[in-house]
Amino acid sequence: MIVLGRTPTKLAKLGTAFSLPLGKTFDSKSGVLSLGEEVLLDANEPHMILICGKRGFGKSYTMGVIAEGLLSMPGEARTTFAMVIIDAMGVFWTIQQPSSEPLENFKDWNLTPRGFPITVYYPEGLAEKYRPYAQFFHKGFQLYPSELELPDWLYLLDIGEGQAQATVLSQVIKRVKAMRGRYYSLEDMSEVLEQVGAPDNIYSALDRKLEKARNWCIFSDQGQRIEDIFQPGSCLVFDLSGAGELPWNVRTLLTALLCKKMYSKRAFVRTNEEISRIFGEPVNVTFPLIWLFIDEAHLFAPTEKATPATEPLLEWVRQGRRPGLSLIAATQQPGALDRRILSQCDTLIIQRLTAGQDSAAIGSRISEIYGAKSITEYMKVLPKEPGYAIVLNDLTEDIVPVRIRPRQSWDGGGSAKIEDYVHVTLDSEA
Ligand SMILES: Nc1ncnc2c1ncn2[C@@H]1O[C@H](COP(=O)(O)OP(=O)(O)O)[C@@H](O)[C@H]1O
Ligand SMILES: [Mg+2]
Repeated sequence: MIVLGRTPTKLAKLGTAFSLPLGKTFDSKSGVLSLGEEVLLDANEPHMILICGKRGFGKSYTMGVIAEGLLSMPGEARTTFAMVIIDAMGVFWTIQQPSSEPLENFKDWNLTPRGFPITVYYPEGLAEKYRPYAQFFHKGFQLYPSELELPDWLYLLDIGEGQAQATVLSQVIKRVKAMRGRYYSLEDMSEVLEQVGAPDNIYSALDRKLEKARNWCIFSDQGQRIEDIFQPGSCLVFDLSGAGELPWNVRTLLTALLCKKMYSKRAFVRTNEEISRIFGEPVNVTFPLIWLFIDEAHLFAPTEKATPATEPLLEWVRQGRRPGLSLIAATQQPGALDRRILSQCDTLIIQRLTAGQDSAAIGSRISEIYGAKSITEYMKVLPKEPGYAIVLNDLTEDIVPVRIRPRQSWDGGGSAKIEDYVHVTLDSEA
């Protein structure tokens, strides 16, 4: 049995407590695939985990496996942390539903299909759209326009810093703040826009853009505010796809705001916990440790150009260990992910990669940790089907080939195929 990310000293102290099952080692060198010892992942300490591989080789699935492992942690440990899944593609809500895979797929793993308790949030303004599915989509979240600073608006509304629209918008924000304080709406902003006396063309361009922002349905004065919903023990899935309607820059900005809020809350609470410890008082979890899941991470923090999420994510991976923030990110293009994030990851779960830029990016990160030679040997033996990975850990300097275990819950990430709709009769059965 291997507990990835756990030093021998810690292993002697904790055994397998506070770890989660990832899979089993595999060996394919002889040409025949065989499975070996159990592989667990340390969840006692914060980790920055990156899963990378070609499309369709199991990144989102593996995120689901890790989420299930955390959700299965025993009661007391479970209440120390919350899980936050940024679901930009709308595929993780299915964790609440048991897998429909045949039971025999689970028997070698000592597992049974099951769903897990999670809370799925959607943009409050889209409540009508989600209502028929209320069994799976539970609550609306909303954003006050005042949570956004001028640079956020410029990014959202696609306005360049030097443009005249930016100057007018800055006036609008100042004035609406002075008039309404914290609680102003998009409608208030439009009203103030009429009053600031902007030239016609700028007025109508901005007015159109604010109208567009209304249609995203994320700004509202109802529903729960994001900072009020992080309860210890909870697993929050933020469906930022907005039923497939939210543009990417909106998804990125929402992610940025969520990360900033969680970071600042947790960093402050950590200081309080430290003080309790100094005075020998018991430490209560007032704001939980966080395991943050971000799929398609290169879209949030790309190499070529910073987005509003870049800085918050960098802060998360650089400074998150002290306050107890973990990241599980996945990307099909590690070469397109901000290098600074890649270099902070302590655990790499590598599935089949495309040659070229992506292999090079991962290769250079790996050679920082290990001799680059050993990993290419491993990559050669990776089976050509999904569910296999080479897992590297920085701390324990492990390189372990792992067959990722099956998911107990429904996999919402599979591609739509004709066979989903049409029954096939094989010639041999006809
Ligand atoms: N560990 C696994 N065990 C069984 N099937 C898997 C496993 N990992 C992936 N798969 C299969 O591969 C499909 C694609 O995986 P997915 O995670 O959606 O790929 P990616 O996110 O890398 O594009 C899944 O829908 C599932 O059918
Ligand atoms: Mg995926």
